[in-house]
Amino acid sequence: MRTQFTTMFSVGEEFSTLTKMKKITLSALVLLQACVLWAQTSPSLQAKLDQQTKEIEPRLIEWRRYFHQNPELSNREVKTGAKIAEQLRALGMEVQYPIAKTGVVGILKGGKPGPVIGLRADMDALPVTERNSLPFASKVKDNFNGMETGVMHACGHDGHMSILLGVAEILSKNKSELKGTVKFIFQPSEEGAPPGEEGGASLMIKEGVLENPKVDVMFGLHLQSLVPLGTVAYKPEGLMASVDNLNIKVKGRGAHGATPWDSVDPIVVSSQIILGLQTIVSRQTELTKAAAVITVGSMHSGIRRNIIPEEAILEGTIRTFDAEMQKKVHDKIRTTATRIAESAGATAEVGIDILYPVTYNDPALTREMAPSLERAAGKGNAKVIAPVTMAEDFSFFQQKVPGLFFFVGAYPADMNLTAQPTHHTADFMIDERCLIVGVKSLLTLTTDYMNRTTLPKTK
Ligand code: NI
Repeated sequence: MRTQFTTMFSVGEEFSTLTKMKKITLSALVLLQACVLWAQTSPSLQAKLDQQTKEIEPRLIEWRRYFHQNPELSNREVKTGAKIAEQLRALGMEVQYPIAKTGVVGILKGGKPGPVIGLRADMDALPVTERNSLPFASKVKDNFNGMETGVMHACGHDGHMSILLGVAEILSKNKSELKGTVKFIFQPSEEGAPPGEEGGASLMIKEGVLENPKVDVMFGLHLQSLVPLGTVAYKPEGLMASVDNLNIKVKGRGAHGATPWDSVDPIVVSSQIILGLQTIVSRQTELTKAAAVITVGSMHSGIRRNIIPEEAILEGTIRTFDAEMQKKVHDKIRTTATRIAESAGATAEVGIDILYPVTYNDPALTREMAPSLERAAGKGNAKVIAPVTMAEDFSFFQQKVPGLFFFVGAYPADMNLTAQPTHHTADFMIDERCLIVGVKSLLTLTTDYMNRTTLPKTK
């Protein structure tokens, strides 16, 4: 073989080929040296964590039921915050409270040096009146936007807090063996602050949650009713969509309904704009790259059948998974709306407010931690899923530090998937056996990340 091979080249060519091969080998080696080889907790620590996870399940259920029975609206998580702060202090960790209104941060310094890992749980409930007849169903009432309403943990945030308290308790017990620091971030107002108020992840960042000590990486989860119990689901890059509010004001000219030629009809112009917007996604966006949604959810104009009004107001929502595509979609919306209006002699004022960024899972981090998720959930139980067009304000943390966000299956095992009430509804419920899967996942991600083995860099 070898002889045959060399006879194919003249001496000079052979020499240069060898030099090239040497170069390739060298650069591969340099690349390898900068890479993480594996990330796995030591077997002795893992065995302890597994045992303690089993033991903590009744407490997870107890905490979750307490939070479920005592839900509080966004930026009003007063009792919730106090309960969490008390619990974290009892574990002997440094506690920052309150932060970002009602938020709590617990800092656990491990016995050995290592990275700073942020783990986040959201705390707020929703203005939904619970219809479940559980013994711990919510009877709480409050005022939302001037209206009397029931309050309910109808999104599973009660479970998120219970899971993170469980992780905090277990890691505290193993403090001396931890390589690095864990920040337990209990975040208020994930669902959005009341009008005129700041809140949520962006306010936590503004108030310094990612500093002192500086957070290197963030992990977060959401219980998900459409994912089967016992499984976790994730994907690299855009997992959940960005959300932008769209407002368009179309100004025309009013007239008698019998003489449309005297008018510039804003209702007809708005209809053309709505149809025009639909072609942005279907005809002008490269959908093989990522999905996109433009929905016009409300259109208000006119008061009487025979009066052509002066203006129309359109409101909509935009969902994208890619920052570049998001910008392109915005530009095209502005062009489409203003030019269609112009062609009819009307004007269109376009306002786009960027609300939530894409929940973007760092691809290298996701690749590195995927085996940890699989170990936590069991073989074959960590699944890569299609992107979800809902949003999550964990995305603000991911704009600052690499982060991995994933779903934990929570639908009751004895219900069929299509019968499962969705999040944000009066019948929403979780199967509490999902809590332990959440604890295992966050524990495994944390201690595996602390035990990453890398070859030292050459330079
Ligand atoms: Ni939620």
